[in-house]
Amino acid sequence: MLADQNKSFLRFLTCGSVDDGKSTLIGRLLFESQRIYEDQLVTLESDSRRFGTTGDEIDYALLVDGLDDERQQGITIDVAYRFFTTSVRAFMVADTPGHEQYTRNMATGASNSDVAILLIDARKGVLPQTKRHAVICSLLGIRHIVLAVNKIDLVGYDRAIFDQIVADFSSFASQLSFASIMPIPISARYGDNVVTPSDNISWYQGVTLLRYLETIDIKSHHEAAPFRMAVQWVNRPNLDFRGYSGTVASGAVTVGDKIAVAESGRASTVKSLVTFDGNLDQARAGEAVTITLTDEVDIARGDVLCPPDDRPSVADQFSAHLLWMSEDALLPGRQYLLRVGMRLVPATITSIKHKLDIERFEHLAATQLSMNEIAVCNLSTASPIAFDAYKDNPETGGFILIDRFTNATVAVGMIDFALRRATNIHQQHTTVDQEARARIKSQKPCVLWFTGLSGSGKSSISDVVEKRLHARGYHTYGLDGDNVRHGLNRDLGFTDADRVENVRRIGEVSRLFVDAGLIVLCSFISPFEAERRMIRERMKEDEFIEIFVDTPIEECMRRDPKGLYAKAQRGEIKNFTGFDSPYETPSAPELHLRTTGKSAEELADEVLGYLRMKSIAI
Ligand code: ADX
Repeated sequence: MLADQNKSFLRFLTCGSVDDGKSTLIGRLLFESQRIYEDQLVTLESDSRRFGTTGDEIDYALLVDGLDDERQQGITIDVAYRFFTTSVRAFMVADTPGHEQYTRNMATGASNSDVAILLIDARKGVLPQTKRHAVICSLLGIRHIVLAVNKIDLVGYDRAIFDQIVADFSSFASQLSFASIMPIPISARYGDNVVTPSDNISWYQGVTLLRYLETIDIKSHHEAAPFRMAVQWVNRPNLDFRGYSGTVASGAVTVGDKIAVAESGRASTVKSLVTFDGNLDQARAGEAVTITLTDEVDIARGDVLCPPDDRPSVADQFSAHLLWMSEDALLPGRQYLLRVGMRLVPATITSIKHKLDIERFEHLAATQLSMNEIAVCNLSTASPIAFDAYKDNPETGGFILIDRFTNATVAVGMIDFALRRATNIHQQHTTVDQEARARIKSQKPCVLWFTGLSGSGKSSISDVVEKRLHARGYHTYGLDGDNVRHGLNRDLGFTDADRVENVRRIGEVSRLFVDAGLIVLCSFISPFEAERRMIRERMKEDEFIEIFVDTPIEECMRRDPKGLYAKAQRGEIKNFTGFDSPYETPSAPELHLRTTGKSAEELADEVLGYLRMKSIAI
């Protein structure tokens, strides 16, 4: 990046709102430093694309800057990266919208910045938003803060006001782990202390903002940390060449080094380091490279390469700080996609340990998270991932969570440590397995999952189906919301979070019963597509039969078998499905029962017909 100059490179972030004078400040920095490198990223990207080749050649188009990956996840769209340079240094500014709801953009910009400029309006002092931004910067590992006290002209260049703001911020920030805080009184509008020293502020003898940015000593985390590279692509243009392409996340790798695959522990030696501009002896953090090895080792896309004696943790459960960025609440138990390095795995938040109250640094209990909230959570992934603690290596300890339906990024996370508990638990092989248990019962185990509104007829239809199956000698078990909620799930209510957990537990119980060889009939509203899908994915194909009991809400209200609709209408029950709690219609159920005008017997016939067709029951 910026290869035409032999200068050091600093990435910084500005935090503050338009009202604080952020645009004016950035504009002045860019303008006064004379060399505007606007839109350089765009050019860089198209340059990289140009290198793309086909056929037998090594495909260098895949070796693009890491930012590109973030872009594909759609999380940098609201962050503008601007470039400028002075005779001393080259700069990249991440400019992020400053309103409260855009905290997520700020976090995105912060995740690869060396310095953050916190802009404060001298008339307003330290605001809750300033604190929020400082906490996020600290969580994301930014070590150097510039406290830019702007609009100092509007308070008559008053030193006492400046000193008070610095004192306020310093006492707050003492609880965060910044390596340096540099307060500078500025006026972005009139240029005081931005690029040129101020004539109006005689009491300030320190450097200007630009001078500070030019001279601050950034010891890159990335270079000091041990070697890590996530394989982005296994480059195999022909039988004679096999290389592993990616960007060195941290540390360095040299020809002749021993390296290992973090996940499998398999080791080999680096034979060559191939780049578009020829072979290298060494590749360092930030450089895109294709590594070839002296041995044939089984390495796949997403695997992390590392030194054999300094490997990252590999685990499927860990504790992390999470900044929630979606308008939909985080629901523990729901499945999201987690992306760390080049790996994408299904993951769930198993518990929210506590939320952070940014103002008071207190821990608050929470069952769900809403937009912009920060919490410490336990997560579990569907398969083990390789990672370092974020504080040791932001490149391999940072992750994002993606919504499985919308593909939107819903959270950024920072891994704190692996939870070792579960790694000692192995799946126990049993001699009498599902197949044996099913054989002795002469049946094909499965789950009939009835979903639909309260009063739609799920339990009644399921009851008839079970009765008939039983009469024909099938081994069945029926589970339904009203019953299970008296026992196993008596601790759960009807909030979104509780429904997710309710359905998740039933899913697990169903799986066990299927493993026991039974035909399981489940009748739960199960209002969310995400959880129904999760259960489906936990089963083998053909084992999960989703039956949508489609009864219009008007009809359910007319029937109102438990008088609950009447109560909901009177406002006596909260979060009632169809009223103030959603029901997501199944998009591709195996069976769609339109119940209007049909009896439970007739509808059960439809279900049995389906089972016959699938050779599950005659
Ligand atoms: S689910 O949404 O978590 O799947 P579940 O099927 O277990 O719900 O329980 C639904 C049953 O609980 C309903 O049939 C009804 O009898 C009862 N119930 C009590 N309060 C509510 C509510 N707020 N919303 C829906 N059902 C409720």
